[in-house]
Amino acid sequence: MTETAETLAVQSLAGPSGIDPRGLRAPAIVAPMFLVSGPELVVASCRAGLAGSFPTQNARTYADLVQWLDRIREGLSGLPRPQWAVSQIVHPTYDRFEAELGLMTEYRPDVVITALGSPRRVLDAVHGYGGAVYADVMSVEHARKAADAGADGLVLVCHGAGGHTGRLSPFAFVDEVRSFFDGTLVVGGAVSTGRGVRAVEALGADLAYMGTRFIGAEESLANDKYRQMLVRAGVDDVTATKAVTGVMCSWLDESLADVGFGDAALQASGKIDFSDPHGEHKPWKNIFAAGQGVGSVDRIAPLQDIADEIVVEYLAAR
Ligand SMILES: Cc1cc2nc3c(=O)[nH]c(=O)nc-3n(C[C@H](O)[C@H](O)[C@H](O)COP(=O)(O)O)c2cc1C
Repeated sequence: MTETAETLAVQSLAGPSGIDPRGLRAPAIVAPMFLVSGPELVVASCRAGLAGSFPTQNARTYADLVQWLDRIREGLSGLPRPQWAVSQIVHPTYDRFEAELGLMTEYRPDVVITALGSPRRVLDAVHGYGGAVYADVMSVEHARKAADAGADGLVLVCHGAGGHTGRLSPFAFVDEVRSFFDGTLVVGGAVSTGRGVRAVEALGADLAYMGTRFIGAEESLANDKYRQMLVRAGVDDVTATKAVTGVMCSWLDESLADVGFGDAALQASGKIDFSDPHGEHKPWKNIFAAGQGVGSVDRIAPLQDIADEIVVEYLAAR
């Protein structure tokens, strides 16, 4: 038996391992972000001692996804124990689901984070190779359903998060979920400093889920305009609205204003019309997402530098 097979056998016996905070420099996952997280961000996160992740839908085609996973595998080789996750849409209408799940069993990320549906669909396959399944949830009701479905971990996306944002305070959300769930708890929503990461632990959760703080990392897929806007923005410069995609999402005001949706226009219409197929305005592409922690982005830097800063703050806050 090879060493890898042995390790896997041990993992399978011990149950799904998931992301172990003790193996990280600070207990944080660099969260999956649409059109922002690619293989370089995942590799840089792991090399900097954090857990990396990306959403599969960022790879335009199945063939691209295979290439990305190869790049991750290659980029992580030589690291003693990199920890990474993939976020996968599990909604029945997502037609790449089965094919992607097959890739998960081949490339074996530590965690598959399920979005937009029940984690049940991936459990057997992911547990089969020794991985763990965490479900992304925004309400206690969904947390309970995911726990009942057998999720090993829950990602509680709270108020102030970038992209699709929750509405609950982490103070209330973590307490209620902890009363019925003793698996891994990950907390996201404006956690943007090492002090925030420490606060997540103090609440009784295991890992922080940090998106916005890393959009400006040099290894992300974000363009320059987006990066510069992030540096200029503070907490008063983001707006959560359903008007852009139909679900509550947090955007940079400056990018909304750029496409003609300043505050007043948003209030008046309540809905942005993207129906013109030749229109150049696209949510995520030139209407930029960011959460309330955006004030922590004060420069464009290599991910390693951002991670180092977070680790120093985290250790000082212990
Ligand atoms: C630009 C951007 C894109 C995002 N895209 C996704 C996505 O495709 N899938 C997903 O599960 N979460 C997505 N999120 C949410 C993050 O995974 C995470 O929940 C969030 O960033 C945490 O809050 P924070 O941005 O305040 O740190 C996105 C967030 C941002 C900022």
